[in-house]
Amino acid sequence: MRCTWLGLLLLLLAPVAAANEHPIPVFDPSQLRLIRSFGPWPPPFHGDSGNPLSGRPDGIRLGAVLFAESRLSRDGALSCQSCHQPQHGWAEPKPRSHGLEQLDRNALGLLDSRLQRWFGWDGASDSLWAAAIRPILDPREMGGSTAATAELLRRDPALSCLARRSDMAAASSPDDEAVLVLAARALAAFQETLASARTPFDDFRDALLAGDLDGMARYPAAAQRGLSLFTGRGQCATCHSGPAFTNGEFHDIGLPFFVTAADGSRTVDPGRHRGIARLKENPFNRLGRHNAAPLSQATIPVRHVVQQHRNFGEFKVPSLRSLRFTAPYMHDGSMPGLADVVRHYSEMDEDRLHSDGEALLRPLRLNAQESADLVAFLESLSASTDAPAAGYDALLADARRLCP
Ligand code: HEC
Ligand code: HEC
Repeated sequence: MRCTWLGLLLLLLAPVAAANEHPIPVFDPSQLRLIRSFGPWPPPFHGDSGNPLSGRPDGIRLGAVLFAESRLSRDGALSCQSCHQPQHGWAEPKPRSHGLEQLDRNALGLLDSRLQRWFGWDGASDSLWAAAIRPILDPREMGGSTAATAELLRRDPALSCLARRSDMAAASSPDDEAVLVLAARALAAFQETLASARTPFDDFRDALLAGDLDGMARYPAAAQRGLSLFTGRGQCATCHSGPAFTNGEFHDIGLPFFVTAADGSRTVDPGRHRGIARLKENPFNRLGRHNAAPLSQATIPVRHVVQQHRNFGEFKVPSLRSLRFTAPYMHDGSMPGLADVVRHYSEMDEDRLHSDGEALLRPLRLNAQESADLVAFLESLSASTDAPAAGYDALLADARRLCP
């Protein structure tokens, strides 16, 4: 009899013991503040005052069509979509992109790019429209030209119809650069519509803030523990903050310096250091003549940014939303999966972090359970469906109907 009772007691206690080994975390006030700052989702977006086509249906349609237009490239074989593929979170699965030549960097996903301040891993562009002009004109990417782009928009019946609907004055201007900028503004207006859907994390955040225990319980315990690491000991939220999980700035997290070129030679990607130089000399930055809102607050960053020695080897803190679709990771595409990323932060080489670099980063020395929890949390920042691609097809169909 006694034995049976003891047996029963042990049986009842067993699940409690198992749960206590990896308990659901209790968040302290500083963690709760951070978790609140990761939302609401979607956050408000008020458009880009520097882009007259921002939020305008005609411009968005022209942008969608141009995004798939391979005649923007010198050889007629590459469109934006070649490297920014809808089913891959508008990035691509190759570690480093290949345009007309092998490139040094991984294609950035374009979901939620409307929320960014700087564009490109090195922030060489300060607007989505400037970031659209760069690949068109870069001889290693699409190798197009201002004149050829302008001619295409003037001569092709469907494109010129869409362009005239978007901006009659620019579309009929003899100034090639004005027509190129019209194309870029349309591409930007289209990309502003690429918004990622709500994720399991967003539902958890809202339930936590509302004190809704049932809602909270639907979020896996592993992801909750990962969130606790992310906002606690891991200090990830120092850089990955706000609704898109980025502070919008540049840091060096100790990846290897060298990039191997197609011919086997090794070069160094200077990252933000060269990005600032390129930004300042770019005639299409927000201080240039094509910005429709030269007095807006959006010009402040480019006006004030100064190149410093520490910028060498810094790269943009990427958004952590939609990672499920955008592997591989990092500016050089060197990490195939999220487990590789977590291993990097767990075991990083402190000597590699240059002297005036990040005092913040230390190898976290996570155990297997903690690593798995952090991965579970990162996975919970992606929606299970990739809805925006459907919107893209609808835009293309609309455009064909309006301007056959
Ligand atoms: C050959 C592949 C390739 C093509 C074609 C291409 N891109 Fe990209 N795109 C990239 C790569 C690689 C990056 C990262 C570049 C960098 O950091 O310098 C990038 C970055 C971007 C960014 C910055 C995103 C961010 O969050 O910072 C935008 C915007 C963008 N591309 C839009 C476009 C548009 C619009 C087109 C077509 C006109 C286009 N791209 C064509 C590979 C490509
Ligand atoms: C000092 C600022 C900083 C901290 C702290 C930080 N990160 Fe990052 N993170 C970055 C930067 C910068 C990159 C891009 C680095 C590159 O490509 O050179 C990055 C890249 C990533 C990526 C790859 C995303 C992609 O699309 O390629 C993931 C995932 C990530 N970090 C997760 C984390 C996690 C988890 C932690 C905490 C353990 C963390 N980060 C801590 C700055 C930081």
